[in-house]
Amino acid sequence: MSEPIHLTINNTPQSAEVEPRTLLVHFLRDQLGLTGTHIGCDTTQCGACTVHLDGDAVKSCTVLAVQADGCNVTTIEGIGSVEALHPLQEGFWESHGLQCGYCTPGMIMAAAGLLQRIPNPSEDQIRRSLEGNLCRCTGYHNIVRAVQYAAAKIQG
Ligand code: FES
Ligand code: FES
Repeated sequence: MSEPIHLTINNTPQSAEVEPRTLLVHFLRDQLGLTGTHIGCDTTQCGACTVHLDGDAVKSCTVLAVQADGCNVTTIEGIGSVEALHPLQEGFWESHGLQCGYCTPGMIMAAAGLLQRIPNPSEDQIRRSLEGNLCRCTGYHNIVRAVQYAAAKIQG
């Protein structure tokens, strides 16, 4: 049995039918083709699936699609483009904040949530805000530098 949902994704209204058990991450990837949101675990630990739900960074593998009914969802596809990178995307590029890139969409969405709450975070605040996001490749120093780059760029 499917349920109708109506929500806004990356500023575009969407209506769909979903099974009540469908996770938001599967709805985004499998039904909408928004595969920039990744799945890196089945234990809610990696953060690769992070999106914004009504402005808050959430792990979309912990949210049912029906719970997002009526909400605004932003995914990595909604915050920048190849022609106009988001300052965080630019920061990851400039600071070598990625290697394989698998964790990067989730890192960027989590960091974007931090910069909305705290525009000029300390290194400690950056590290604490990203502790729910795991990277198997880079270590975290360059990821922290990427967030610092973005914070400075956003503040001009
Ligand atoms: S896929 Fe959601 S936390 Fe790992
Ligand atoms: S860049 Fe490979 S997991 Fe983070």
